[in-house]
Amino acid sequence: MRLTVIGTGYVGAVHAACMAETGHEVLGVDVDEERVAALAAGHPPFHEPGLSAMLQRTVAAGTLRFTTSLEEAARFADTHFVCVGTPQRPDSGAADLRHVEAVVDGLAPGLREGALVVGKSTVPVGTADRLAPRLAVSGAEIAWNPEFLREGSAVQDTLRPERIVAGVRSAGAEARLRAVYAPLTAAGAPFVVTDTVTAELVKVASNSFLATKISFINAMAEICDVMGADVLTLAEAMGRDSRIGPAFLSPGLGFGGSCLPKDIRAFAARAEEIGRGESVAFLRQVDEINARQRRRTVDLAERFTGGSFEDRDVAVLGAAFKPGSDDVRDSPALAVAEEVRRRGARVRVHDPEAIDNARAVYPELQYALDVTKACEQADVVLHLTEWPQYRELDPAALAGVVRAPALVDARNTLDPQAWRAAGWRLGAPGRPRLG
Ligand SMILES: NC(=O)c1ccc[n+]([C@@H]2O[C@H](COP(=O)([O-])OP(=O)(O)OC[C@H]3O[C@@H](n4cnc5c(N)ncnc54)[C@H](O)[C@@H]3O)[C@@H](O)[C@H]2O)c1
Repeated sequence: MRLTVIGTGYVGAVHAACMAETGHEVLGVDVDEERVAALAAGHPPFHEPGLSAMLQRTVAAGTLRFTTSLEEAARFADTHFVCVGTPQRPDSGAADLRHVEAVVDGLAPGLREGALVVGKSTVPVGTADRLAPRLAVSGAEIAWNPEFLREGSAVQDTLRPERIVAGVRSAGAEARLRAVYAPLTAAGAPFVVTDTVTAELVKVASNSFLATKISFINAMAEICDVMGADVLTLAEAMGRDSRIGPAFLSPGLGFGGSCLPKDIRAFAARAEEIGRGESVAFLRQVDEINARQRRRTVDLAERFTGGSFEDRDVAVLGAAFKPGSDDVRDSPALAVAEEVRRRGARVRVHDPEAIDNARAVYPELQYALDVTKACEQADVVLHLTEWPQYRELDPAALAGVVRAPALVDARNTLDPQAWRAAGWRLGAPGRPRLG
């Protein structure tokens, strides 16, 4: 089939490449000319395992092309995926839909009768119903097919999704989406058909649930800190209950990135609009608990530098909002690093992939290309993004380069015995007896 994918960021670039890989002929569209030129040359604008090779294969095969022209897109295909950003509005928690609306309004005049515009962007519940009339004038229809990929495993998640949710307004739209995804459903991907409102809700409800689970265990970590209990043991024992499960029950610095924080705020704002603010009022607390973990990490680190960061050297391990990605949007690690710098420390940040992106947002932090350089003469080391390679570090060797062997493991993933045996003082959220 011929498809277009409009918006070639994390979601769109991966979707376009994967659709071409599964046999479709795909045209990717973006307003960013540099991005389009890079993608057309087979270079992804961000780090995502497996994407570079797939782009090069499909671009070379001629099944994936890129353009900046929406008119060309409207002529090229009858099925259009909308993957543009839906950021938080600067003046409130609500979602800014201007990019989605620009695409719908830009496509509409050129669409052929029977065209299907499929939203993948995360939007407030009711958006598809509101936009449908703008497409109906061209004889085109809208559907919503929310995206659940995780950065860091986006290609795998797209090729082997745990579910495909098709929110449709007609049997024809359902048939079209079934045909698009036939290679994935043939390999076992469950296909859930529903209306557009429910489809939009599946996405925001899922992200709200995940955020709540993370903040729940972080709230328990706060209790553990006061009572002398151990949150890792608590999480492990809770997670073994099959009704609860271990995923997203990892106590630490909390969530960030381009999705969970803005999605829960947008959901809370939308619930207010429809007169059901009280139904998701808890999301504000989920957000507050999450913000508190950043402050708690800074305070914990400050205890290791004698109560002040003034004239201290602090090493930060991790800048990406999560391991496996170079995305630094609303990164908890960088928020902590910046606050420590603001309080007077010299901060040197290491990350295996995200240094360039981090430097662009926080130019006043210092950056190091290897962990040893980052840790040289440090008064405290902060482990803030749980890249697997940090678990392989040699605590004894690092103890030799720092000024004082003190570690805050804000992600609770390093081996305390190994670090303690090498002479390190330790701190971690929810584990007051670690020290
Ligand atoms: N990143 C994720 O992990 C993820 C996962 C699931 C869902 N989502 C949702 O998917 C959507 C996209 O997220 P993302 O992370 O890929 O965003 P992104 O910011 O990485 O990419 C958005 C792209 O859209 C382009 N764009 C903006 N306006 C345009 C227009 N008028 N025409 C063509 N292109 C335009 C931008 O130039 C950019 O390249 C958001 O709604 C997000 O919430 C993201």
